[in-house]
Amino acid sequence: MTKPASLNHSVTRTHAFETLTVDGTLPTTLRGTLFRAGPGLLERFGRTVAHPFEADGAITAVRIGDGVQGACRIVEAEEYRLEEKLGKSLYGSTASPFARLHNGLTQTFKNTGNTNVLAWQGRCFALVESGKPVEMDVLNLDTKNATDLGVIQGAFSAHPHRVEALKTTFNFGLRGKHIDLYALPDTGSARWLGSFEAPWISMVHDFIATDRHLIFFIGPAKLVAWRAMLGLKDFTKYFRWDNRAGTMIVIVPLADPAHPMKFEVDAFWVWHFVNAFEDGEDIMVDAIRHDDFSVFASPVDLNANVSGEPALWRFRLSPKQGGFSGEPLRPFPCEFPSVHPRYVGAEHRTIWLQTYTKADGTEGAGVGRFDTQTRQTQYWHSPEGHLGSEPVFVPEHGDAPEGWLLQLLQDPEAKRSYLAVLDSERLDAGPVAKVWFNQAIPMTFHGVFVPKAKI
Ligand SMILES: [Fe+2]
Repeated sequence: MTKPASLNHSVTRTHAFETLTVDGTLPTTLRGTLFRAGPGLLERFGRTVAHPFEADGAITAVRIGDGVQGACRIVEAEEYRLEEKLGKSLYGSTASPFARLHNGLTQTFKNTGNTNVLAWQGRCFALVESGKPVEMDVLNLDTKNATDLGVIQGAFSAHPHRVEALKTTFNFGLRGKHIDLYALPDTGSARWLGSFEAPWISMVHDFIATDRHLIFFIGPAKLVAWRAMLGLKDFTKYFRWDNRAGTMIVIVPLADPAHPMKFEVDAFWVWHFVNAFEDGEDIMVDAIRHDDFSVFASPVDLNANVSGEPALWRFRLSPKQGGFSGEPLRPFPCEFPSVHPRYVGAEHRTIWLQTYTKADGTEGAGVGRFDTQTRQTQYWHSPEGHLGSEPVFVPEHGDAPEGWLLQLLQDPEAKRSYLAVLDSERLDAGPVAKVWFNQAIPMTFHGVFVPKAKI
């Protein structure tokens, strides 16, 4: 999605947990910590990064329970620490041409941890899809170190999915053309499940899991190797949308990961999946469908010609016949979807969405609760000009269908950010409470809420 330019700024003050102010009344059942990840430093040593995807990450956290505290810290992984020590930028577009060429030729990346947060076995990790997880101290957001968790061979995607029925978090990582598959059980060690070869080297941002399969949609955004190797500043040019190619559907059986099923369909692009579930011999996949990859350039070029508007679609996959069909569930722009954590990998009814104003000015920015049966959406439209982010649903207790919807927003006039806490059953009533930071937090991409009992 095109993010408003005013979300693109650096963190102005980093701090460990400190008391935040609350308007309204927080629910007594809401106890735990929301972790959010996003680009934290848009400038390094006086130079502005070319794209927010390459910025050093900031982790923002709001801890609710015994009072309310917030923290905001930069992900200070090994590469960041080396830059600080030497007093100059060594990575990405802010580095010297020689350093960029060296990094391109050696495929060296900075581990920014700027995309998502993984909570696993009481630990917390900042994720970016080009690096390994960077462990953060849950008590103060101090950066520990990048880790391979004993199994990670290349990179580790920023989109893990925990399948409740298997009590396991699945993820993948890119290693050139190879896509490695990982399982992180709630108890016990992380495991490498196997790997498969992608049809081309591409950006693969997300995947989705059921209790029997891992599913990938690999769109034809193909890496232009020479551009990446030369380390050109604008890395949106590293990928070329190949209209002649299709999107490769890859279905990996968890019972036999060495033998994935692959078939090609007409080209489209998915940044984010909603959920997937088994339906007899078919697999149902809900995802936000984009016509192509063009939105990738929009943070760099606000006049970029973005094709169409992202919409919620449902796809039916028939692995045995290579069958594939899809239909829009909701023909309005939206992104950053999720379902109740209890139903990841199983059939869901409710989908949580960040909604956007349509190109024709209708609809509106905010959060939505979409009912897959009635196909109706309930909304909270955020105040005019307030800049929102991915909503995070927190059930009142384990299986409860109702709970709270959390959205971190920026109020540009007040130059402060706040966490809106909404009753999931009454979004239109507006926030029951707002938790205020004393600064404007830059955009955040993704995050997770960890109940108090688990950290
Ligand atoms: Fe994402």
